[in-house]
This record gives sequence, structure tokens and C-alpha cells, in this order.
Amino acid sequence: MAKIFDYTEVAKHNTAESCWVILYGKVYDVTSFLNEHPGGSKVILQLAGTDATEEYDPIHPPGILEENLSAEQMLGSVRPESLPTTEKTPVQTGEVQQDGPVDLESILNIDEIEAVATKQISKKAWAYYYSAGDDLFSKKFNNEVYRKILLRPRVFVDCTNCDTSTTFLGHNVKLPIYVSPAAMARLAHPAGEHGIAQACEKYGAMQVISQNASMTPEQIVADAKDDQVFGWQLYVQTERAKSEAMLERMNNLPQIKFICLTLDAPVPGKREDDERSKNIGSNLPVRAAVQEDASVSKTTSDAKTPSPPKAMGVGQSLFWGTAADLTWRTTLPWLAAHTSLPIVLKGIQTHEDAYLASLHAPQIKAIILSNHGGRALDTAPPAVHTLLEIRKYCPEVFDKLEVWVDGGIKRGTDVVKALALGARGVGVGRAALFGLGAGGKEGVERMLEILKAETETCMRLLGVERVDQLGLQHINTRMVEKDIYDGPAGLERPSLGSRILAKL
Ligand code: LAC
Repeated sequence: MAKIFDYTEVAKHNTAESCWVILYGKVYDVTSFLNEHPGGSKVILQLAGTDATEEYDPIHPPGILEENLSAEQMLGSVRPESLPTTEKTPVQTGEVQQDGPVDLESILNIDEIEAVATKQISKKAWAYYYSAGDDLFSKKFNNEVYRKILLRPRVFVDCTNCDTSTTFLGHNVKLPIYVSPAAMARLAHPAGEHGIAQACEKYGAMQVISQNASMTPEQIVADAKDDQVFGWQLYVQTERAKSEAMLERMNNLPQIKFICLTLDAPVPGKREDDERSKNIGSNLPVRAAVQEDASVSKTTSDAKTPSPPKAMGVGQSLFWGTAADLTWRTTLPWLAAHTSLPIVLKGIQTHEDAYLASLHAPQIKAIILSNHGGRALDTAPPAVHTLLEIRKYCPEVFDKLEVWVDGGIKRGTDVVKALALGARGVGVGRAALFGLGAGGKEGVERMLEILKAETETCMRLLGVERVDQLGLQHINTRMVEKDIYDGPAGLERPSLGSRILAKL
């Protein structure tokens, strides 16, 4: 019969010589596993002798425990009454303000989804999702700038029909709205990124899978239909072999149609809300979900990788190991050597970089104008500014690449305004995570349902039947134009393009 331990006994095994942890009420001896853990031994040692379930669960794919530990390493169970009391989520403590399950139909807009989710999810999850750089100026401005663009509705136009379908990189989708690569979905709900995928399937929306997803890409796309479109986000790792192994996995996953290389956050911004929830983030194994796969090299040595500082927010902990030395000259050829999937560059914030990206077509097929949801450099420009800058200085970019945008999308009118400015589609990150927090897969469905319906209403009221009919004639951007960059172009024109590349 399995042994039953008191918590005090487990707590004694808190060193590298004897390291026990409690997971889901069971006691494991992980001493011999310490050096095999892909996220390093330190993250386990920080939890040695404790109940690690809350830290472990949201970021480890189901089944991984059994795969990595032998039956003998499971020593027995812990007596539940002996466990110390820990901070509980509002759901666990019954402090959720709704009576009974959330009535998703009663949620009418994206802000209300966030408000409901905020009551449902843990403080740690909320702090990580909500947080942004410094004073949250860019995060807020990303949204507010859409309010400064006015719409120009035409009348006497038959608006019986409305079609929101479009294409991304030639793949058909039913919505110009996609889910951005937003990390750690299982912090919000056990359905995680797979739940988001199911919701996207229902609405024919594209999903870009985060490199920091809390499930493996294989699990997320597991039951996707053939026509469902996914991309995978790459944060290039200092240890390039890790990224190369991941690219190899993506090359063999037919559902993944492109690699979304993220450039807007080589380091995280200073996210004070997230930092305040320190001591919990410090326990997160770095990229545990994606790395814990047999095909990924397990040669990580703690000697080579300096230890992260002790207490930090979830964001800082996730950025551990991210390479800060990417360049146009070195990174794109390296990528070409490891994948023939189209490259989407995420995080373009100036017309100069949009232009440089266009010189790399067709390897680069799309750019995403993004300031990382305001989570990186505060006071960086919103995508709307960059769209207007490109229009002013180098409009030919729109002919060479697809231009996608993200940040601040909360209304169907925001979607329509971005498309009228030339964006092919818009990404939503926090809205998907908060949707998940509000109601799991159904919460994400509700989020997409709301944005789709609002987009259709806006198109109808503008007198537009299809998204490809949207254009500059539908918007008045005078209020925004006075704010956009007005300095020198900093470009050399196409005939000199090769000279520019040579200099980089
Ligand atoms: C973040 C990263 C992980 O913004 O994308 O938190």
C-alpha cells in the first residue's frame, strides 16, 4: 500500500542531495531528475520540500510527469490536512462574484470579458496578463488611438450581406481577426491553448502559437481540421540548438504554416504589476512546456547558463535564455538554413524597419506592426502610427508584404479601421487569454463572436460588404496624423536596396 506522509516530513527533503516535491497530492523523489530537468535544477530546488502543484500545473503538458519519472520515484501521498494553507484563486475560495457559472451570453464586450476573467483567475495570472511596460502608456494608447480615427459611412448601399472572410499568406480564414502568440494560457484555464485552438476552429480564425505556450504545439494542434491555420512564434534562444530543434519540430507539423519571429521584446519591459507578484514567478521552469519533449536536446547545463535572479515576475522568468543578438544580416540566413516555412516578422515599429523587411521578401511574407501589447518599450508607437508612417514614407511595402497589426483591439470598429489603413488582419492576445479565464473554450468563442458581430455591424453601417473593399475613403485620420513621426525618411530607394543590405 502506498505510504502516506505528513507535510513536515516532505519538507525536510529540500536539498539537492534529497529533493522531494508534492504534485497533485502525491510525493515524488526528484533528486535524480534534477540534472535532467530541461529548465535546470534550480527551479525545482526552489520548490524542494513543498507542494509544487500550483507552479507546475499550468506550464507542464499532461502526461509529462509519467514520461519523465519512474514508478519508484512516486513515494506515496501527502496527508491533505497536513498541508499548509496557501493563497487560493477566487474560484477556489468561492470569492467569485458571479452566482454560479458565468453567463457568457450576458458579456457584451471585450472589457466585460476582462472584468469577468479578473474575478476568476489567480492574482499571478492576472498580473502576468494585465502587466505592461513602465506606466502602461503604450498599452492604453494602443487602444485609445483607434478612438481618434473617425469613420465615414456611406448611405444608400445594400448592406444585406456581409462577409468577413479573408486570407493570410494565401490561406483562407473566416475572420480578419487572429489570436496573437500570448503565453501561458493554462494560467487562466486548464483548457489552455488547445481550448483557444478549438474556439478558433469554430470561428475560422487563425492562431499563432506562443513559444511560451503552456502546452506543446503538437498538443495544441492535435485535433485541428485540415483547413485550420496556425503559425508558431519563435523567440530565438541564446543556445541556438534549442531553437533549431524547435524549428525542426515545426517543419514536421503540417498545421504550422509560418514562423512568426518576434523582434519587439529581446528583453521584457519593466512590468511592475507582474514584478509585484514575485516569489511565485521565480519558480517557473523556463519554457518547460515546449522543451520537455524527447526531440529537444537535454544538454542544458546550469554551468553554462547563469542562474536567473531570485524573485521575479512570470514575464522575466520566461525571457530567460532569449537571444539579444539578432540582426538582419545574421538571423535571416540562419533561419533559412533551418526552415523553408514563410517568415512573419513581428514587432516592426518604424517605417524604416518595415521597408527593410520588404527587401527580404519573399523569405519574409508578412510583418506584424506591434509594440508587444505595450509590454516591452513604454511610449513605443501604436501599430496605427506605424501604418500611417509606412503609408507616408514607403507605401510600396504594402505591395511586397502582408501587413498585420496587433495591440489595443477591443471593438469591431478598431478592426475595421486597421483594415481600412491597409492591414490585412489584426491580432488579439489578452482578449483571448481573458476569454479563456472568463469561460474556458466557450469564453474564447464568446470573445470571437463579439468581435465578429461588431466588425460586421461596423461594415454594414459603413456600407461595405467585403473586407477587401475597405480603404482610406472609409476613415478620417486627421487627428492621428498630426502625432505621427515627421522626421527624415532614413531610406534608400529600391534601386539602392542591395547597398543597404550590404551595409547591414
Ligand atoms: C511576454 C512574452 C513571453 O510578453 O511574450 O510575456
